[in-house]
Parts: sequence; C-alpha cells; structure tokens
Amino acid sequence: MKKIIPAYLRVIALFFIIFGLIEYFIDSGDRPAFIKFPMVNLILLVVLVLLVAIEAVVKAADNIVYQLLSEEEKAKLAADENLKLTEKPWFKKLMSKLTRTVPIENEASLLLNHDYDGIKELDNNLPPWWVYSFYACIIFSAIYLVRFEIMGADNQEMELKKELAQAKIEVAEYMKNAPDLMDEKSVTQLTEPADLAIGKTLFENNCAACHRADAGGQIGPNLTDDHWILGGGIKNIFLTINNGGRDGKGMISWKGTLKPKEIQKVASYIMSLKGSNPKDAKAPDGDIWEEETPSVAEAK
Ligand code: HEC
Repeated sequence: MKKIIPAYLRVIALFFIIFGLIEYFIDSGDRPAFIKFPMVNLILLVVLVLLVAIEAVVKAADNIVYQLLSEEEKAKLAADENLKLTEKPWFKKLMSKLTRTVPIENEASLLLNHDYDGIKELDNNLPPWWVYSFYACIIFSAIYLVRFEIMGADNQEMELKKELAQAKIEVAEYMKNAPDLMDEKSVTQLTEPADLAIGKTLFENNCAACHRADAGGQIGPNLTDDHWILGGGIKNIFLTINNGGRDGKGMISWKGTLKPKEIQKVASYIMSLKGSNPKDAKAPDGDIWEEETPSVAEAK
C-alpha cells in the first residue's frame, strides 16, 4: 500500500528527531551525549530496532487487513490511492471546513435580492481561516497593548541593553574563574596586600606541611633564599607549582587543586618572602637565580 512518506524515510527521520532530542536534553558538557555516556548508544540502538519493528508490524497488519477486504473494497481503495491530493475526500473535507464555500449548484441560496444593471451579489460566508486569524489578531493586539503600553514591558532596545549589561556581568564572572586564562607565560607578580594575604592563607593550608609555615624549608626546599632548584621568578615558580617538581621528589602538580589565579597568588606570596631569613631555615638548594633583564618585548 502506498503511503505519502516511504517507511525507511520515516524510520530515519524519527530516529534523528529522537537522537536530537536526547542530545538536547542530556547535559553532556562540551562532548556529545552519545560519546560521553555509552549508555545513550544502547538506548539509540533500542530506539532504532523498535522503530523498524513498529514499521514492520504496521506493514504486516496493513497487509492482513488488505487480504480481508472484498474485491469491491480493494478496487475502491486502489481508486482512492490513485486520486490526486486535491481530490482525496479528507482533503476536500478540510478545505470545505476552512473556507465554508457553498457548492456552485446551491449558489442561488446566497443571492442577495438586488440587481444593479445585471450585476448580482452573493452573500458568501467569510472563510473561517480568515475569521479566526482576525480574532487572533484582536486578542494579540489587546495583550500587546496592555503589556507594552500599560505595564511598560521592555521594548527591543531596552532588551538589548539589559542583555548586554547581563553579558558584561557574566564575562566578568567568567574571567574570575576562567581556568585557562593564565599560564606561566602570562602570569604577573601581584603585590597588593589583599592578594598576598590570600596567597599566605593558601600557602599555610597547602604548602606549609613541607615548606614550613615561614617557607624556611623542611621536606621541600627553602623558598625564601636566592637559590632555586627549578628556577626563580614568578614565571618559573608558577610553572613549578602548576606542573610539580622533579619526579619522585615529593612536589606534586597543583593544577586542578588550585586555580591558576590562586597559583598566581601563592607564587606572588612566595616571591614576597624573598630575603625574609626565617630562623633555622633549610640550607640553600639549587643555584642562585637572577632575574633576567626583561626583553624588549616584555618591557613594552
Ligand atoms: C609533600 C610535600 C610538599 C608540598 C605539600 C609542597 N611542596 Fe613544594 N616542593 C616540595 C619538594 C620536595 C620540592 C623540591 C622539588 C624538586 O626538587 O624537584 C618542592 C619545590 C617547590 C618549589 C621550587 C623550589 C625551587 O627551589 O625551585 C616551589 C616554588 C614550591 N615547591 C612551592 C610549593 C607550593 C606553593 C606549595 C603549595 C601549594 C607546595 N610547594 C607544596 C615538597 C612539597
């Protein structure tokens, strides 16, 4: 039996609609859900099998029903299927519902009883599609009027302004926590007491166990002298904290535990301790580090 859309297209279309819905509704971050959650693949497979099965069952049922028809009914069905869309009974019914036209044979019932030199007038019904759109417009305009003229809702310009302001706030928020916006190349030394105070707290909570609260050194080296194993200066210190020390020495990578901005603060705090000469500090390790004179590019 002929259908408007062939079965295989229906299956493909439905499958992709369901696939799209799944991707839309499952929050899978930056990766598609079917990669992040292998379970989704299984569900999709089941959906596909089900769709094919439903098509098969419907087809089989159609066939059985067809076999049960009398010759007469079969002929009628075949005739129906060969009709053009505009001749199909359901289409005709729909059209007459939407337009309420009176068949031409009954036109006399509509004739208004005046006659202008042979020009006659028919009193046709307004087509319902038009009448209902007109009612919809009236309702729309009433809501529109109340909403924008009386309640003072935002017009497009206000909406844009508000969205831009909101976007600004969100960007600022993002910058605060952005994970990737700082690395050892872009890091700068902070000197604000507020930043250093945060750095100090971070140091006391995370680092003091090995480097001592005054950074004089214990398991880890003294961080207050001019000697550095892995290089001094804000960029090297940031790098060491971010990536960890040499293998097996005990200095882990703090990437992920501390945010880049926190690493910047604790590194700046360490820089601020230079020359603080804590009591009983650990003997210097590594080489004396001298800050290179900044290159022309950096000085700019
Ligand atoms: C488990 C002990 C331990 C903890 C905790 C620890 N460190 Fe270390 N740290 C070390 C050791 C050991 C080294 C030497 C690494 C090497 O020799 O490669 C080191 C090296 C360093 C260096 C490089 C020193 C140099 O001379 O180049 C810096 C900077 C440093 N740590 C900062 C920190 C900061 C900041 C924290 C806290 C966020 C921290 N460390 C937490 C053990 C630790």
